Amino acid sequence: MAFVALYVLLLSGETFDAFVCDQVSACIPVLRLARTRKKVLFYCHFPDQLLTKRESFLKRLYRLPLDWLEEYTTGMADCIVVNSKFTASVFKDTFKSLSHINPDVLYPSLNISSFEEIVPADIADLIPKKKKFSFLSINRYERKKNLALALEALHELRGRLGSHEWDEVHLVMAGGYDKRVLENVEHYEELRRLADKLGVNDHVTFLRSFSDEQKISLFSNSVCVLYTPSNEHFGIVPLEAMYMRCPVIAVNSGGPLESIAHNVTGFLCDPLPTQFADAMEKIVRDPLLKDTMGAAGRVRVTEKFSSEAFSEQLYQYIRRLTE
Ligand SMILES: *[C@@H]1O[C@H](CO)[C@@H](O)[C@H](O)[C@H]1NC(C)=O
Ligand SMILES: *[C@@H]1O[C@H](CO)[C@@H](O)[C@H](O)[C@H]1NC(C)=O
Repeated sequence: MAFVALYVLLLSGETFDAFVCDQVSACIPVLRLARTRKKVLFYCHFPDQLLTKRESFLKRLYRLPLDWLEEYTTGMADCIVVNSKFTASVFKDTFKSLSHINPDVLYPSLNISSFEEIVPADIADLIPKKKKFSFLSINRYERKKNLALALEALHELRGRLGSHEWDEVHLVMAGGYDKRVLENVEHYEELRRLADKLGVNDHVTFLRSFSDEQKISLFSNSVCVLYTPSNEHFGIVPLEAMYMRCPVIAVNSGGPLESIAHNVTGFLCDPLPTQFADAMEKIVRDPLLKDTMGAAGRVRVTEKFSSEAFSEQLYQYIRRLTE
């Protein structure tokens, strides 16, 4: 990154109003060497040092200078933006020497036109024939995603429904899965065992790794999306779901607090099976809810989380810097 920054400064022959530096802050000191100093906007997304594990002493030692470098060079930017208000608070807790800085928020966006270009795939052989109430959970098979919550909520819901309604309920657990990643393999098996133990096996379909084309069809086939992780930095799945006119039931922490409008485009709940089941029950009992919340979701994504909204917000930050 530093090398590329140097190239930009010395060899590209371009002129600039400002630099936008994405994700890696180590090149900011280089950009500041420009002969006529230009302002630097840094899109931090999320502190890098929180995304790496430090299991051994050696790893901690190895990360020590890198963490220092990240914090020091991040502080050299003229404007820092992060991906949510939630991350802004994490930023302040993590970079102690930068606690005087209030990062601005630039929400990630959904590229609607490229999303629209995806041709839905036939998924008839992946999931059971059309159920009236098909719920969908999309997330990688990782423990921190709290996928068990979806299964427990389904089990809770079962106790509240008559057998006719229950017959029409299904849950599709679709998750990114890489058989070389031990956690994916183990967690998938854990969830299968849990579904078994809860006696909801016949009402759950597990999918491992799916294409974008299949994902679109899964959304279209669902009445509602369950989004189970706590303290998610932002979360793109709720945006995709809302754009596809699916209400989203999510945990009331992290990014979903900002992406989902409670009671309008979905429900924000404590990470408890009873609360998730309350919200799922509303979807089952009120057939119009899917349509009204779905329509509101599409409007919300188009207005607040489209590429155009992203460009406009970024442009405002750049304008402020260069004025
Ligand atoms: C969005 O996707 C379209 C079609 O794939 C592409 O032409 C366009 O450049 C993308 N826009 C952004 C902002 O990435
Ligand atoms: C949620 O929306 C319903 C229907 O619009 C309304 O009756 C209810 O009062 C709302 N609840 C909250 C907590 O806003």
